[in-house]
Amino acid sequence: MKKTVVLSLAVVAMLAVTGCGDDAKKAAGEAANKVTETTKKAAEATKEVAAKTAEAAKETATKAVEATKEAAAKTAEAAKETASKAAEATKEAAKEVAKKAEDTAAKAKEAAAAAADKAKAAVSGGNEKGKAVFAKCVSCHGQNAEKQALGKSEVIKGWDAAKVEEAINGYKAGTRNVHGMGQLMQGQVSSLSDEDIKAVAAYISSLK
Ligand code: HEC
Repeated sequence: MKKTVVLSLAVVAMLAVTGCGDDAKKAAGEAANKVTETTKKAAEATKEVAAKTAEAAKETATKAVEATKEAAAKTAEAAKETASKAAEATKEAAKEVAKKAEDTAAKAKEAAAAAADKAKAAVSGGNEKGKAVFAKCVSCHGQNAEKQALGKSEVIKGWDAAKVEEAINGYKAGTRNVHGMGQLMQGQVSSLSDEDIKAVAAYISSLK
């Protein structure tokens, strides 16, 4: 009886030990499994986070590139506009300068014309016809009627118009001969009309 009990106890103990061993093994295995799984999960999570981070980085980079591109386009557009405005302004300014120059030139031309007219009037006393007639007298009487014609005549510069007119009419009619050269003077004035004579007389009287 004693033997049987001891044997039984031994078996129970053995069973218990064996059972305990199995449980421990199982627990260890389970723990190991859990560690592996956790590690795996952690790795997966890390992988996922990394992928997400990469995705986000990629997206941010893309957005940055796009924003840069857009900004560059806007800058280029603005530069283009500024350049075009500057060109326009320059064109406008050049136009204005040209117009002013034109105006100035026109005014200068007008002033020059007026001055020329004034000068002409001063020279001829405004008497173009008289001046034209006198052109054929200058060879003997001088440009300003300041000479003694052929060393014979009086200087007719400063003569009164009526006096000149009377003298010319006398030569034309062949009734005047002061210095013995009345005939020569007749030849000079015979073709002059009364109008020509009046004009040249007025012109001579205006010479200074
Ligand atoms: C070829 C030279 C010559 C030319 C050209 C000439 N004259 Fe004479 N002129 C004379 C001479 C010489 C006398 C003097 C005549 C005389 O003996 O009376 C004279 C006299 C005169 C006189 C009077 C002066 C005086 O001494 O009493 C008048 C005025 C005059 N000439 C005007 C003219 C006019 C105007 C013209 C142009 C249309 C003209 N002459 C062209 C030579 C010239």
